[in-house]
Amino acid sequence: MNRLYTLGVLLIGLAGAFAAAPLAVAQPSPAFIAKREAFIDQLMKRMTVQEKIGQLRLRSLEAGAHPDRAGFEKEISDGRVGGIFNTVVRPDIRVLQEAAMRSRLKIPLFFSFDVIHGQRTLFPVGLGLASTWDLDAVHTMGRISAIEASADGLNLTYSPMVDISRDPRWGRNSEGFGEDTYLTSRIGAALVKAYQGDDPSQPGHIMATVKHFALYGAVEGGRDYNTVDMSPQRMYQDYFPPYKAAIDAGAAAVMIALNSVNGEPATSDKWLLQDVLRKEWGFKGITISDHGAIMELIKHGVAADGEDAARKAVQAGTDMSMSDTIYGTNLMPLLKSGKIGMADIDRACRDVLRVKYDLGLFKDPYRNIGTAADDLPDSFAESRLHRPAAREVARESLVLLKNQGSVLPLKKAGTIALVGPLADDQVDMMGNWAGAGRASQTITLRQGIQNIVGGKVRLIYAKGSDITDDPDMVKYLNLYKNDVQVDGRSEADMVKEAVDAARQADVIVAAVGESQGMAHEASSRSDITIPPVQERLLKALKATGKPLIIVLMNGRPLALPWEAENADAMLETWFSGTEGGNAIADVLFGDMNPSGKLPVTFPRAVGQIPLYYNHLPTGRPFDPAHPDKYTSRYFDITNGPLYPFGYGLSYTNFSVSDIKLSAPTMKAGGMLKASVTVTNTGDREGATVVQLYLNQPVASISRPVQELRGFRRIDLKPGQSREVSFDITDDDLAFYNQQIKRVVEPGKFNVYVGLDSASVKATNFYRL
Ligand code: NOJ
Repeated sequence: MNRLYTLGVLLIGLAGAFAAAPLAVAQPSPAFIAKREAFIDQLMKRMTVQEKIGQLRLRSLEAGAHPDRAGFEKEISDGRVGGIFNTVVRPDIRVLQEAAMRSRLKIPLFFSFDVIHGQRTLFPVGLGLASTWDLDAVHTMGRISAIEASADGLNLTYSPMVDISRDPRWGRNSEGFGEDTYLTSRIGAALVKAYQGDDPSQPGHIMATVKHFALYGAVEGGRDYNTVDMSPQRMYQDYFPPYKAAIDAGAAAVMIALNSVNGEPATSDKWLLQDVLRKEWGFKGITISDHGAIMELIKHGVAADGEDAARKAVQAGTDMSMSDTIYGTNLMPLLKSGKIGMADIDRACRDVLRVKYDLGLFKDPYRNIGTAADDLPDSFAESRLHRPAAREVARESLVLLKNQGSVLPLKKAGTIALVGPLADDQVDMMGNWAGAGRASQTITLRQGIQNIVGGKVRLIYAKGSDITDDPDMVKYLNLYKNDVQVDGRSEADMVKEAVDAARQADVIVAAVGESQGMAHEASSRSDITIPPVQERLLKALKATGKPLIIVLMNGRPLALPWEAENADAMLETWFSGTEGGNAIADVLFGDMNPSGKLPVTFPRAVGQIPLYYNHLPTGRPFDPAHPDKYTSRYFDITNGPLYPFGYGLSYTNFSVSDIKLSAPTMKAGGMLKASVTVTNTGDREGATVVQLYLNQPVASISRPVQELRGFRRIDLKPGQSREVSFDITDDDLAFYNQQIKRVVEPGKFNVYVGLDSASVKATNFYRL
């Protein structure tokens, strides 16, 4: 496709900064480690207790503002701050580093920020990025994020977020990479490598923070900040691996989850922070509390007061306190009273200094900050944006859910009615956690269509409805910032305008879904349908009899039974970022053949949650061929998902051959190849994702009915075939048994290969 062209432009623009990530992470040499530890030993000998505590304090300073600016800088020059977050432009950052350089020991600050799906250029939100199933696209986003963030003076991002979620009600689904352990692990590791490279002290690189450790995506009922209760077996098997993969890829920092795990808040959980993270996984970086989480130990009911909370957190292994006052106030008295030891503070302080050393900040505290003479006059300058790459990644992230009668792609002719509250909306297109991006630089769908069709199409636009007409919801969403706009017109007037537009058109394109703020932190929903006012608009449009194409924008799987039934075509676009409008228009008009695949299961109704593809078998499975009463099912709804994990259509068709195995058996430590031939049987070039799933039908404990163990994105011209092979090793067969030991149990293994999790070819082999 146009991929080569786009990357070509990037390579020229960035002078080779896009060299693909090496597979293995370069480990620091023993000589480097010895030198670093000796440096830290010497430095710590000279530090006062107050200065050591200072290193554990992460302070927030938004947009360079603080009610007591002089006092804030004095805190820094007194050596009482270790790092800063939320300050994102070099002139602001420089002043703070200058304050640190006035401190007694001149220990530099580091600067961090939530660079989640881009800094200035925004890429699709996590679910969109995951829908590409393309690690090159992930790498591109990570590199560009690091290049733009480091040019803004930053050293560390609070990404990747690798919390597995099987609950669409949870608002933070949008930030993560979906429900699958394997896919999320691969994406998280690729992002860490892209941000950090082999050496995060090199220009254009930043450090990564894997979050939220642990299990934040499993909050009960999908309600944010709620409790997590989980068997150790499930933790180790399904929820821990993505954090571990990011750490193995070299992630310098870990952000601790706000939730409790089996009754113990993660922030005070010694088992999680020391036994699992440090001892089992060998993590050497810093642990950072989430915002205010140490103080929240009181409300969790495990600490009596601030002092108690600080003690529990530092002794458990929480190195840095985010938005700190609690460590600053309490650690010294705790030490004086003997409730904590010097070793508790020293251990955490050493972690922070180690990260600063690895960042190269002791060599050059102004690395990434540069001199004032080099500052850009406008940090939002258009020239800073990486638009072609953002468009390319966004195009790949779009998932075609339905295309009845090949109504898509649209012709660049005739009249199109473009309706819906999200059709011309720059803020929502950016997605939440929009970094330092700017809405006015974001391409809406309306602009994107206009850019592609120019004067060839008559485009009639009508907003048609608000995102929601529920005043309480509007009030909630607009609590901290103006998230949703309310049109002054009546619903009837807006629908009429949209229906009038539809009547004049050959086809309707309706952009509906959620505002970005509806799929965010503190944005859990009990209803995961499209808000009723938008549903009513869709029904009125449908009544015109014109072909209805639904363009979805949302940050979680939605329950869409009416839409799935009534739309002629439906394209899932998530929130696709700065170039979203152009990318969506590329797909609607066929300049790009859609290739995205769902990284999450779409349920039919909220009552089916949790619904995920890699579930365990039951003793009474539902069999659609012989539906029976006493089976595991709901009697008031069709069984199974609306759209399965891994699903996504194309404008062409692909066939998958039967699976060929290199041998019928596999020895311990051996390797088996599973191959299929994929053919493009349609008349358009297109890409698809070939997916490998495994299952062990009989083991010492129940194993999931299928688990993703490999995927390959391939491009095929019309009529072209390609063989795709997957290597299967013991690593793919291993699981955590009842004793939480990772084992491979000999026996039969089913192998499934297909273009989504529900339609697969099958074979099997025996592991001897
Ligand atoms: C709270 C969020 O949970 C976390 O993901 C984020 O990184 C911090 N706030 C900092 O903004």
